[in-house]
Amino acid sequence: MRGRMLPKVSILDPRLTISEPIQASVHIPYTELPYRVHELPPKGQQLMVADFGDESLAALEWLGSNGRQPSLTSDFTYGDDGLARLWAPNAFLESCLGQIPQGKALDIACGSGRDAVYMASGGWNVTAIDHLPDAISLGQDLEQLYLKSRLPIDWIPGDLTRVSLEDRWDLITCFFFLNRTVLANALESLVPGGHFIVETFTSVHREMFGKPRSPDFVLLPGELRAMAEGLEILEYEEAMHGNRHTAQIWAKRPG
Ligand SMILES: C[S@@+](CC[C@H](N)C(=O)[O-])C[C@H]1O[C@@H](n2cnc3c(N)ncnc32)[C@H](O)[C@@H]1O
Repeated sequence: MRGRMLPKVSILDPRLTISEPIQASVHIPYTELPYRVHELPPKGQQLMVADFGDESLAALEWLGSNGRQPSLTSDFTYGDDGLARLWAPNAFLESCLGQIPQGKALDIACGSGRDAVYMASGGWNVTAIDHLPDAISLGQDLEQLYLKSRLPIDWIPGDLTRVSLEDRWDLITCFFFLNRTVLANALESLVPGGHFIVETFTSVHREMFGKPRSPDFVLLPGELRAMAEGLEILEYEEAMHGNRHTAQIWAKRPG
């Protein structure tokens, strides 16, 4: 059975203490914003701050001086309608995931864990790996706050070039990390019928913006499609996605 994905909302409740919650909102006390940035929407996405006077003005000021353009809103209703998120997983993942039967997922180079937590919220049994302990610990925070009563995520703090994972996976995801050997090995551990969803920067992005600094970390035209040789390609695109030129692939091992 498909799980109910964690719903996305756009109202931040910045009060220090709440006597009564408001619907379709996430409560982050304004004093906690500096270390809960990974719970905010990507820059450029809509963010509204519920108007509760001085606490909201303080939130607005902090957000404004940290690259966001929030607006104040009084258009909210009191009541508790459950867990929701302001943050967003990878948009390409979000567009594919609802069409894939749940199972065991591996998120390679998971960063601060939004994609892992999003998948787990939909009932996936997720393993997430990254070599930065700080990133893993942000992911664990996110899991604790947003994944009540779901399967726990298996967080692995480790170097992907050294760790060998014996498991087999129904879904392998990798976003904005490129190590060709790691990806090739990961593909070997995809079960028949398993899915592979990847997005990362292309050489076009590097030519346009000078980043990532190393040419080793960008995909050449057609390279990602070639990596998935033998898989059924369900979606493939090399194009501007938002303000990044990326290659995206959703492929499936025949089975
Ligand atoms: C640009 S971030 C992408 C994070 C996440 N996938 C996302 O899209 O938000 C790249 C991630 O790769 C991780 N990483 C880089 N080299 C790694 C390695 N050898 N082993 C494990 N993780 C690595 C970094 O710590 C970082 O979290």
